[in-house]
This record gives sequence, structure tokens and C-alpha cells, in this order.
Amino acid sequence: MDTSGKIESYKVLFEDYLNSYIKSADNSDGLSIACTYSLSAGGKRLRPVIVMLSAEACGGNPADTLPACLAIEMIHTFSLIHDDLPAIDNDDLRRGRPTCHKTFGEATAILAGDALIFEALSIVAGSNLDACTISDIIRAIADSCGLDGLIKGEYDDIMAEKKTIDLNGITGIYLRKTSRLFELSTYTGARIASANDDTLDAMKTYGRHLGLAFQAIDDILDIISDSASMGKTTGKDILQEKATIVKALGIDGAREWAREQTETALDAIKRLKAIHLENIAFDMLKRVN
Ligand code: IPE
Ligand code: IPE
Ligand code: MG
Ligand code: MG
Ligand code: MG
Repeated sequence: MDTSGKIESYKVLFEDYLNSYIKSADNSDGLSIACTYSLSAGGKRLRPVIVMLSAEACGGNPADTLPACLAIEMIHTFSLIHDDLPAIDNDDLRRGRPTCHKTFGEATAILAGDALIFEALSIVAGSNLDACTISDIIRAIADSCGLDGLIKGEYDDIMAEKKTIDLNGITGIYLRKTSRLFELSTYTGARIASANDDTLDAMKTYGRHLGLAFQAIDDILDIISDSASMGKTTGKDILQEKATIVKALGIDGAREWAREQTETALDAIKRLKAIHLENIAFDMLKRVN
């Protein structure tokens, strides 16, 4: 199967799994409805697809990763709900819909984000992976999100507004707010496939640089694309004076930087001969939404 067919089939596998989770959950109260609203709004489902491609590249069965895929997509969705809050990026549109707080109010959106974190942990803990794998993945989720992870990245992103931040500082923000979840995704797929330590390290390096390239392209698209194509409000980074790679290097420079990050990502996994991971990295450079 070619890479686009593979990506599509893993996306369908994930959507089916998510839908059966939603059907089995109690959706009668406002908190669950808000979680479901944001989770089921669509989105590219890149992180679950990357978990499955990573498992496959390491000789595992992609279907075994589905609970972990759901957990990581929940963590990602929590990060988007909170990123959109008035106190953070103050966004009205997400995944083509009004943001969670616009629809349900700020208190519910904050709590829905919180709930998704713990639901994610509960799903991994209750999965039928072996106890050691569960413990490693839960640890990786916590490390990816905490004081040296996504939440610290979001904090640094907000603190960097309206300041002049050098390339190192911007890279530090991206490494935490974006790369950590990509790294978590590649690690999780490889870990479920029982990859050895060298391969786990290589997969994490791949995920880290993939995340850097991904955020650079997101920042470019914020300038050159439009809200209808992106499903979120564009043109905001300049207005909010965000510290982005585009601000530091310009659009062409940022594209070149993203290309270099992609090369570093691919170099890390070249001995695995993981053709779909190579192709998805190139696709992500060319993405238009
Ligand atoms: C958005 O991620 C947040 C960033 C890291 C830029 P995605 O662009 O993957 O969002 P969805 O999941 O497709 O909505
Ligand atoms: C945030 O980056 C990444 C997250 C951790 C949510 P952005 O603030 O640029 O993401 P978008 O553009 O709102 O999706
Ligand atoms: Mg943000
Ligand atoms: Mg934002
Ligand atoms: Mg953005």
C-alpha cells in the first residue's frame, strides 16, 4: 500500500475506535458533551497515525496501539481546548467549529480539558497492554506534558509574546509545546512494538524533529493560509506578536529551517528503512492545512 493509502486506513481505524469509545461513554452530562464536541470535531489525527506507523516500522501490530492513540489524541485535544482559551491564545474557531469555550463557556472548557488528561491516563492504564508497557507509556505521557513538556512550552509561548526571542529560545518553545507530543507518539508506537533502546531513541529523535518542522509550517500557514482551509483563525501570530520561527527567519527561511529539521528527523531513522515514516515527514512539509 502506498503511504497516502496507509495514512487513510489508519485514520479510519482510529476514527472507528474513537466512535466506539464515544458510544460506550456516558454522554448525558455537559462535561462529557464538551469533551466529545472537541474530540469528534475532526482534525488531521496525525498523532494517532504516527503512533501506528511507528509501531509498524518497528515490527509491531498497529491495532495494538489504539488505546494509546486515543489517549494521545485526548491529550492533544486538551492542549487545543486550553490553547484557545481567552487567557492563552483567545481563539474562536477550532477544527472548523466554534471553540469549546465559545460553545460551552470558559469554566466547562477548562474542566473538559482537565478531564481529557485523566481520561487519557485511565484508558492507557485499563488497556490490555502488559503492565510494564503501560507504566512506561503513562510515565512518558506525564513527562511529555509537565514542567519540561507541553505545558511549559505553552507557558514559554505566552511569556515570549511581544519580546525578541532568539532562534534558540524559539526552538526551546517548539520543542516543548509541539515536539514533545510527536516524540511521545513515535516512542509509544515503538514501545508497544517492543523496540530496543537504540530504536526507541532513534524514534524519539525522529518525532522531536518532525514536531519542530510541523510547528514551523503551522506558523507559516498562520500567515499564508486562511481560516476556512485551516479550520482555525489565521493571521493571529503577528497580531499577538508571538515568537515564531517566521518572525525570526521570514517565510522562506522558516521553510528552509523546517526542511532541515525534516532531514534530521529522517537521518535518525534511516537504518529502519521506514518508508511510510519518511513519506509522512515530506507530506507534512507540503501540507496546506
Ligand atoms: C495544532 O495541531 C496544534 C499545533 C501543534 C500547531 P494540528 O494541526 O495537528 O491540529 P488538528 O489535530 O489537525 O486539529
Ligand atoms: C500550540 O501552537 C500548540 C499547542 C500545544 C496547542 P499554536 O497556538 O500555534 O497552535 P494553533 O495554531 O492554535 O493550533
Ligand atoms: Mg498557542
Ligand atoms: Mg493557538
Ligand atoms: Mg498556530
